[in-house]
Amino acid sequence: MKKKFFELIMLIGLLFTALPFSQASAATNNTKATDTSLAKIQKKGVLVLGTSPDYAPYEFQTTKNGKSVDVGMDISIAKQIAKDLGVKLKIKNMDFDSLLVALQTGKVDMVMAGMNPTPSRRKSVTFSNVYYKGGQDIVINKKDAKLYTSKKSFEGKTVGAQTGTMQYNMAKKQIANVTVKGFDKGADLILALQTNKIDGIVMEKPSAEAYGKNNPQLSLVNGHFNLSSDETSSAIAFQKGATSLAGAVNKSLAKIQKKDLINKVYLKEAGSHMETNTVNTSMFHYWKYFAKGIGYTLLISAFSVFFGFILGTILAFMRLSRNKIFKAVATAYIEFVRGTPLMVQIMFVYFGIGLIINLPALTSGIIAVSLNSGAYVAEVIRGGINSVDKGQTEAARSLGLSKSGTMRYVILPQAIKNIWPALGNEFISLIKESSIVSIIGVTDLIYQLKIVQSDTYRGVAPIVVAMLLYFIVTFGLSKLLAYFEGRMKHAN
Ligand code: ARG
Repeated sequence: MKKKFFELIMLIGLLFTALPFSQASAATNNTKATDTSLAKIQKKGVLVLGTSPDYAPYEFQTTKNGKSVDVGMDISIAKQIAKDLGVKLKIKNMDFDSLLVALQTGKVDMVMAGMNPTPSRRKSVTFSNVYYKGGQDIVINKKDAKLYTSKKSFEGKTVGAQTGTMQYNMAKKQIANVTVKGFDKGADLILALQTNKIDGIVMEKPSAEAYGKNNPQLSLVNGHFNLSSDETSSAIAFQKGATSLAGAVNKSLAKIQKKDLINKVYLKEAGSHMETNTVNTSMFHYWKYFAKGIGYTLLISAFSVFFGFILGTILAFMRLSRNKIFKAVATAYIEFVRGTPLMVQIMFVYFGIGLIINLPALTSGIIAVSLNSGAYVAEVIRGGINSVDKGQTEAARSLGLSKSGTMRYVILPQAIKNIWPALGNEFISLIKESSIVSIIGVTDLIYQLKIVQSDTYRGVAPIVVAMLLYFIVTFGLSKLLAYFEGRMKHAN
């Protein structure tokens, strides 16, 4: 027992000692990139932009020829920058609070997300010159317009802000006794406001105005926050020290500013996209989004079930074996995986392992979910095998059956009946739990649901659609599994 525990601690220890090393090597990569950042992009021929398209008019999505595309002033600016650099633009979408991690781990080359170049962010990334000045507002329900007139009227109340944003910190600091609730997406914030979970939303002025314009039940309050100039500005973030890239981008920005393209062209285009988004907000109109989402959810689940099953079987036999090392490794693995949340594992594979090999989000998602599922499947299989009475092995062995023969002809056929229903349970929960991959930007059903919410400015309808789709899939699967379970009974 003691030994087992010791081995487990060793394994965990190993994992954590390896981590700083991998980070150190990434850090040296960064310093090496100091002067070559621009050359590197030009050599690659692509500029990878990280953004969080839930922030009209900065960045949001719209449907063009049945496909979702990223639009907004940040996207227009990024396109111009890529054109000036003579490279292609590739856009990677993720939650706002993952963006700077993605930048530091080299998943993206630059971040544009209506981001304020605050002093604390400046410590870890390099910013371009300011390209736009916004300001901060508070969005409220129109019916409350008499109650709330400035930031002072929110004292002792609850306000919402996007997680990881400067607005979140500002609300906490500048409104006395306020409770600040963080949400990942702009659409979630609006929904929370409309269902009275929060009394107001602290939001960048242009974005607040966009929501106000598209939703007659909302109105805006001037927060009168004390703001430094950085806190009203937006700038582009690069890896710390990527000065050559930042310099080239600043040249593009200067050109854009000289022609006043942001006000004259980009914001106008964004405005017309916002109008098209609200013309037809029926869920049927968005069926392609949901279809794509469910497709990815099924894809991730199918792969993860497959790999999880193989890994689980191996682990189960390792744990059942007499070999002490096999046993210890399998036990340590299972305990560690079961003892940490899937969400953290997904971030570890994507961002952590990503420091060493740059895996795409979908692959990372499949790997993390499979690794996770393997631990649970192992226990299901082990439990099933253990549930077959020891007497059976003894009888089979004394009749002269070999060890593997006993397992194959006597134990497994009986064990499978106990394993099957539990395995079915595991697969059904895997379909639902795989939804966490949306945090790294995999376009699964949950991710698409959020996009439809922010496109249509409708909160509840997309949730209902996603719920129904999940149910149809899991119910279908459970019927299928029950069918096979029934057949196994007849086979008896
Ligand atoms: N300006 C705020 C910040 O930098 C919020 C930006 C949120 N952007 C987004 N695309 N959701 O903290």
